[in-house]
Parts: sequence; C-alpha cells; structure tokens
Amino acid sequence: MSLSDPALAAARAVDEPRLWRRLMDMAEIGATAKGGVNRQALSAEDAAARRLMATWAAELGLQASTDAIGNLFLRRPGREAAAAVLTGSHLDSQPTGGKFDGAYGVLAGLEALEAIAAAGIETRRPLEVVAWTNEEGSRFQPGVMGSGVFSGHMKLDAMLDVTDGQGKNVRDALESFLAATPEVAARDATAAPAAYIEAHIEQGPLLERDGKTIGVVQGVQGLRWFAIEVIGEAAHAGTTPLAERRDALKAAAQMVGALEAAMADESDRVRFTVGRFEVAPNSPNTVPARVLFTIDFRHPEQAVIDALCGRVEPVCQANARGCEVRVTQTSDEAPALFHAPVVDTVRGAAQALELPHRDIMSGAGHDAMNLVALCPTGMIFVPCAGGVSHNEAEAATPADLAAGTRVLAAALVELANS
Ligand code: HGY
Ligand code: MN
Ligand code: MN
Repeated sequence: MSLSDPALAAARAVDEPRLWRRLMDMAEIGATAKGGVNRQALSAEDAAARRLMATWAAELGLQASTDAIGNLFLRRPGREAAAAVLTGSHLDSQPTGGKFDGAYGVLAGLEALEAIAAAGIETRRPLEVVAWTNEEGSRFQPGVMGSGVFSGHMKLDAMLDVTDGQGKNVRDALESFLAATPEVAARDATAAPAAYIEAHIEQGPLLERDGKTIGVVQGVQGLRWFAIEVIGEAAHAGTTPLAERRDALKAAAQMVGALEAAMADESDRVRFTVGRFEVAPNSPNTVPARVLFTIDFRHPEQAVIDALCGRVEPVCQANARGCEVRVTQTSDEAPALFHAPVVDTVRGAAQALELPHRDIMSGAGHDAMNLVALCPTGMIFVPCAGGVSHNEAEAATPADLAAGTRVLAAALVELANS
C-alpha cells in the first residue's frame, strides 16, 4: 500500500526529541523513586497530568472539552464539520506503573497532531486526541471506565457511585479532578467517532523477540474481574479452639487454591490473577474477621470466559469454612476484534514507512475494547524492554516510540481524508 503525500508528509514531520521530552515531562508527575509513576485515577497526580495536557493543547491551538466522566478531548478542526477521527489512551497509571503505559498513546496523539499541523495539512474530518478517565481500574473498579461510559457499555450514574478502598466515590473525586482545568468546556458533540486508533506499548515480549518495530493489532482478549468478600469472626488467637473459629483468611486462602486448580490450563492461555488480598483487622493475634480479594481473569474466547468464570461463585462457596462469602463481578469486557479498514491502514503505513511489523493480538486490556462497538477501531503497538509493564522498570526507546507515532500520524491523515 502506498501512502498519500499528506500522510507521508505528516509521518516525516514527527519530531522524536519533542515526543521524548513530553514523555519525560509527563513522567515527572507522580514519579516514583524507582523510575516509574504512581498516577492513580482521579488523584492529584492524575489531575496534574490533565493540567499539563491541557496546557500543551492550548499552545497548539487545540480545542479542549470534557464529558461527564472526565474524558478529556483535544480537537483539531477539519475542512468539514464531520464526525472526528479519534486517537488517544490514558494518563492514569498503576500504583507502581511505568512511564509509557497509556501516556505514550496520549502524547503520540498530540505529537501526531503537531506534526500534521507542521506539515501544513488540513484534513477533511476533524482529529481529536482523548485522555480516557480511569483506564487502569486500580483505584476504582472497573477499569476502562471513561471509554466504557463514552461507549454506553457502562452507565454514568453507576460509575459515579463506585468507591475506592477509602470509601471515596468517583463523583467526589471527579469534582476536584475537573477543577484542575476550569477553562475546559463541557463537550457537546454526541456523534460517534468516524474511527478510533490507539498507540500503546505492547506490554509483552513478542515484538522485541521478533525484532519488529510495529505491532499491527488484530484485537484484545476478553477480561472479567471479581471482588470476593469473605466474612468470618474476629477472635482471640490464643484462646479460641480451631474448631470454633470462622477464620476469613484460612477460608480465602483455601478458595484461592481451589480456584487456581479450577483455572488450570496446560496450554497456558488462561490468565488468572489474584492481585489484591486485604485482611482485617490484620493483627498477628486476632483471628481474621474479613478478607477482600480480587480476581482478574483473561482469555481470548468468550466461551472459556463464561465457563471458567461461572466456576468462581460455586468454588468460593464450597470453601467458605463457615464464613459468609459475597462474590461481586466488577468488570466484564468481551474479546474484541478490530476492523479491517483501520487494521489495514496501520499495516499499510508501516509498510510504506519501511518499518518491520507483524500482526499481533493484545493480551493487555485497552480503551479500544470499548470503541469497537462505536466505530472502526484499531491499535498500533511498539516494543517495550523485555515486555515488562505494570512495573516501574517499564522502558521503551525514543526511536521505537517515534516510529509508532509516524505510523499513527500517517494513519490519522488517511482515515481523516477517507
Ligand atoms: O489491565 C490491563 O490490561 C491494562 O493494562 N490496564
Ligand atoms: Mn494501558
Ligand atoms: Mn495498564
């Protein structure tokens, strides 16, 4: 596939040092001692990141707007007042996250728009960069919340009522978050985007292992999250006979073991993770009264998700050991396949720019999962060192990040002029 002259000009105008400098400036916000970031959704750090994004956008003359769940949209008008081509990702991070997960997709979008402007290109459709609210879902479950509300997959009121571990709800956290950018207007556009394309680090080892610079992403595996509450009874560790205990921790530990056995998969395609395990009162000499633990389940096939996630409640109840067990599903994202018009545009741009590339499925979840229901959707991956992510050591090279941004700039021009 050959690129149009404007698409080629846009790709060539991508400025690697400028992109890297913005990524490093953004990484200062919530920077951790080990070189990562802690910028959890709707935190002061997340608000500072939003502030910085709005400042850069204003310098570029982009029109900023925000919707009721706090998604931030930065718009470059097109010749026509048609549905926009959307790109972006998220600025929130894991508690011990990396510099590039999410931030790369937002800043690659900003760099692509700056390159398109520098190349003197006016696209038929408007272009918008979006920073989605709460993609990670670490502080507030579910994740991909901003894109979930935007696409209608999640209900705004239900999401505003979600609380974090300290009992603070999204509605209140959002109020102080939006106060960071008082000048940003409420978004009035309601039309679905004409297309969505997201740049992201792979968060896995395949591109690096295969020596490829660009991942032409075919889709994203499905995910389902649960919160399991085990309620026993606090008791004295020295005086209470084991036979009379309702020990929430022992029951929860037994559940995790039984769930792991139920999820066993020799083909190693099932992704079963218990990432959070909270004990109360968490005292050495009090029998645990309450445990809260989470399950993050992933698989590319809906039938396997339904079958194995259908085992969660019965397995937990069967190992209750006299405790009360409450199983709540907190997230449900179906496996998503991307659309050929966008996937082929990404592949064609990589070919035209002579960048080594391969098709790839995403093991990690992304906001693109929610956009699939709204419009033609695709993603561009670039390698990260050792495939390491959700880890402060997450790393990527300026050259790979710029190459992905060149593909993005070219693809945005082709899609906005199609
Ligand atoms: O959990 C995920 O897959 C994403 O990185 N938040
Ligand atoms: Mn991400
Ligand atoms: Mn992530």
